Amino acid sequence: MSFDLQLQGKRALVTGGTKGVGAAVVHALWDAGVRVMATARSAPVHPVDGVLYVAADVSTAEGAAEVAQAVLSQWGGVDILVNVVGGSSAPGGGFAALDDAQWFKELNQNLMPAVRLDRALLPAMLAQGSGVIVHVSSIQRLLPLPESTTAYAAAKAALSTYSKALSKEVTPKGVRVLSVAPGWIETDAAIALVERVAAQAGTDAEVGKRIIMQSLGGIPLGRPAKPQEVADLISFLVSPRAGSISGAEYLIDGGTVPTI
Ligand SMILES: NC(=O)c1ccc[n+]([C@@H]2O[C@H](COP(=O)([O-])OP(=O)(O)OC[C@H]3O[C@@H](n4cnc5c(N)ncnc54)[C@H](OP(=O)(O)O)[C@@H]3O)[C@@H](O)[C@H]2O)c1
Repeated sequence: MSFDLQLQGKRALVTGGTKGVGAAVVHALWDAGVRVMATARSAPVHPVDGVLYVAADVSTAEGAAEVAQAVLSQWGGVDILVNVVGGSSAPGGGFAALDDAQWFKELNQNLMPAVRLDRALLPAMLAQGSGVIVHVSSIQRLLPLPESTTAYAAAKAALSTYSKALSKEVTPKGVRVLSVAPGWIETDAAIALVERVAAQAGTDAEVGKRIIMQSLGGIPLGRPAKPQEVADLISFLVSPRAGSISGAEYLIDGGTVPTI
């Protein structure tokens, strides 16, 4: 059986598309014949030939509007919107370390870019009667770590719930909406974290990796996911091969979440 993703010629916007998961999604979609626009605050170190890069800070309303405008003036709309951007810069120390500014920063980084870009780009999808939106959430929404991820986890929970509500609204009009919740992913930033943890503990990278996996309650698979594996899942979900999937969240975590 051939497994052509049938994505040739589609137009996709990928936020956070220069590093980690986003860069892997850009590569995967481009390889599948998709026309891709990617955004980040800075230019990519390893740009993909043919991909359009737009520099903007999508954690602000102005930045999100700039990106939407770039898409609309270039293509008039998109068929695929993958909201990868996210992350956390909140300090450890539990609830007391999180002032209003920290809370809004997490929401602006993890919830609002998707809300704003969806709102700007959905009208064209609805007008054409088709489209796919993917939100990259996190298993933290199910497994928050009180010392360090309370605000990030809550922002991702809001993103997942928003995603479900949006899917109910627009799936009847031809637009599928999905979310993908990864566990720990072995991005360049994760590799750097392993090295820092190992150095602090006076040990090697293998043990550093195990320390991080233990902090998540263990990963039954014994390793983090690779960015390419997350990108492969997303490529399938945005393809017509997944045409009957909407309103669902897919965990990709090597079994980290201990419940069904
Ligand atoms: N890594 C993990 O273990 C893990 C686990 C679960 C969920 N996730 C989720 O997966 C997604 C990707 O994570 P990742 O680890 O692959 O990220 P990453 O390696 O830190 O890359 C983040 C990307 O987003 C861009 N970016 C960051 N802030 C931005 C902003 N304000 N405006 C525009 N672009 C911005 C970055 O480029 P610039 O810095 O140049 O802007 C970069 O391209 C995130 O939503 C994250 O929450 C990650």
